[in-house]
Amino acid sequence: MNFTKAIVRKPSPSLEKGLTTAKLGLPVFEKAVRQHSKYVQTLKRLGLEVTELEASDPFPDATFVEDVALLTPHCAIITNPGAPSRKGETKLIEPILKSFFENVEYISEPGTLDAGDVIEIEGEYFIGISERTSAKGAQQLILILHQYGLQGYTVPVQDGLHLKSSISYLGNNTLLATADFSNHPIFQKYNIIEVNEEETYAANALLINGKVMVPRGFYHTVDQLEHAGFEVEEVAVSEFEKVDGGLSCLSLRF
Ligand code: GLY
Repeated sequence: MNFTKAIVRKPSPSLEKGLTTAKLGLPVFEKAVRQHSKYVQTLKRLGLEVTELEASDPFPDATFVEDVALLTPHCAIITNPGAPSRKGETKLIEPILKSFFENVEYISEPGTLDAGDVIEIEGEYFIGISERTSAKGAQQLILILHQYGLQGYTVPVQDGLHLKSSISYLGNNTLLATADFSNHPIFQKYNIIEVNEEETYAANALLINGKVMVPRGFYHTVDQLEHAGFEVEEVAVSEFEKVDGGLSCLSLRF
């Protein structure tokens, strides 16, 4: 899918209180701001018109806008995040999505869903059942997708925060994936580039208008991608990695 627009939210000084399982220390706010600004510049250079939302102090994870909405060509679906501290982020994103989308749908209790668990591959939606996304949330999403003529399928997530922590679609029928998913039967119809076990964070990459954005510093993955013919853009996101945020989590693209 080609994109023309993106929505991001600037990080807040409260970022250091973001949910995390990573043992990488606290994020340095000023560095996070610089990295976020370069991320936005990269999206713009790749052709996107970027709407930058102001930081939200009460919600330390609100910079990870990808989790609170799934954007399809036909509608925006506002999620019900699985982490209690993130549920209020949906009210923050709602007005801006209503300004861009005529159709806005909702995931509601008792279902939970983080859109970081949803990967779109050529019009099909794969939904990870994870600690954040429940089977009930996934079923609600599948029913919404059906209303718009779209299909959704569930996939269990054993490791990593979200499904997209471990798998990304790069176009040309090709996935970048960790070993957990490279052998999964549901993905066998795709060519799979398996990330090295020391570089699993790089499995969360972003295809933007023909280029692949990857987190900076994962040299083996960059080599693999370039060898496979992809044009790669490295972006530093180390401060977001410290709070379990991936490259894709920092934007909504449409
Ligand atoms: N810190 C990102 C998340 O846990 O949702």
